[in-house]
Amino acid sequence: MNRQKAVKVVVYGGMFDPPHEGHFSLIRAALRDIGPDILYVVPGFGSPFKEPPGADFAARAAMVRSGLRSHGLGGDVRIKVHPYEARRGRVTYTWRTIAFFRRLHPDASLYFLMGSDCLETFRRWKNYRRILSSARLLVGVRAGFSLRGPVSLPYKRLRGRFPAVSSTALKAGLFSGSRVPGLPGDTAKYIAVRGLYLGGLRARLKRSMPPARFRHTLGVARLALALAQRYGADPRRTALAALLHDVARGLSKEAMLARAAVCRPGMPAMRAATRNAPVVLHAYAGAVIAEKKYGVKDPEVLRAIRVHAFGRASSGLLDKIIFTADLAEAGRNFPEARAIRELAFKDLDAAYAAAQRVKLAHVIGLGGWVHPESVKAWNSHLEKIRS
Ligand SMILES: [Fe+2]
Ligand SMILES: [Fe+2]
Repeated sequence: MNRQKAVKVVVYGGMFDPPHEGHFSLIRAALRDIGPDILYVVPGFGSPFKEPPGADFAARAAMVRSGLRSHGLGGDVRIKVHPYEARRGRVTYTWRTIAFFRRLHPDASLYFLMGSDCLETFRRWKNYRRILSSARLLVGVRAGFSLRGPVSLPYKRLRGRFPAVSSTALKAGLFSGSRVPGLPGDTAKYIAVRGLYLGGLRARLKRSMPPARFRHTLGVARLALALAQRYGADPRRTALAALLHDVARGLSKEAMLARAAVCRPGMPAMRAATRNAPVVLHAYAGAVIAEKKYGVKDPEVLRAIRVHAFGRASSGLLDKIIFTADLAEAGRNFPEARAIRELAFKDLDAAYAAAQRVKLAHVIGLGGWVHPESVKAWNSHLEKIRS
């Protein structure tokens, strides 16, 4: 790329996963207050602090462009979506990105645009002094946020307050197919048309199961994603496990067995389950279908699907979230569901144990066979609280 002379250059980095109204209002304010010759939007390859993005670079760049169109900025030649970080193909710290744009525009007044939440943590950023030596911080203060005390960093504050939209909350809504506020209309359309954020998977599942089961699936995804947000689980993995947990629920016993038999060694009590409670096999078969038909490779996701029907003594975070959400999603109308749902946000372990208890009591009440893993999970909970 040729070196270009520009008087004022603004660089705006971030994951834009997805880009939302908070991002676009910052861009508009930077254009208004600084009047830059160029404003680079630089979608990152990945963040050193966050989970991998839910959409690839090309999709995030396209979403940024669609949002600009919604804001009447589609034809603004000053705004360039730049592939610098994506081209590097690995996580790139901001100091390196700023150094790149400094080399590209050696004589420019360079600004680095950010929200006030970033300013608070800025001193922990790698080589933050190198950023300060090359660029001026340009900060928009988020609504409901006040800069505590003097930040003791040089920065220029943009006029106005900016909507506090959270990409994490947005993503949780998108993955479960909920309507989400805070997205520009064209971006929402782009996401829907392309089936981003697992929209393609949801459409496939909707075609493959009865409406009531699909509603239950979305209910599980909604609660599981809210719990993932609360406990810091990865939203994409959580959504995958929740959406696919009952993918084999409608199969005949023979079809379930055929699927589950593929990975027999990994299935505890398979023979006894087949004899006594074949419906449990849908969890085993579901994990196989998720892997073979839907291409899920993540062992944590596959395990959460595999154990969702009976639980597990040494459950991981995702196992607990899916098991609890399956039992207590908003569509469940037995009396304990609401209490477990509420408890889950305060104490997930306690909610997981309560969900186990309800399920065990239900099965025993019907005179049914109890999966040995359920018994182990329940006993392990008792041992934990009594030790
Ligand atoms: Fe199930
Ligand atoms: Fe379920």
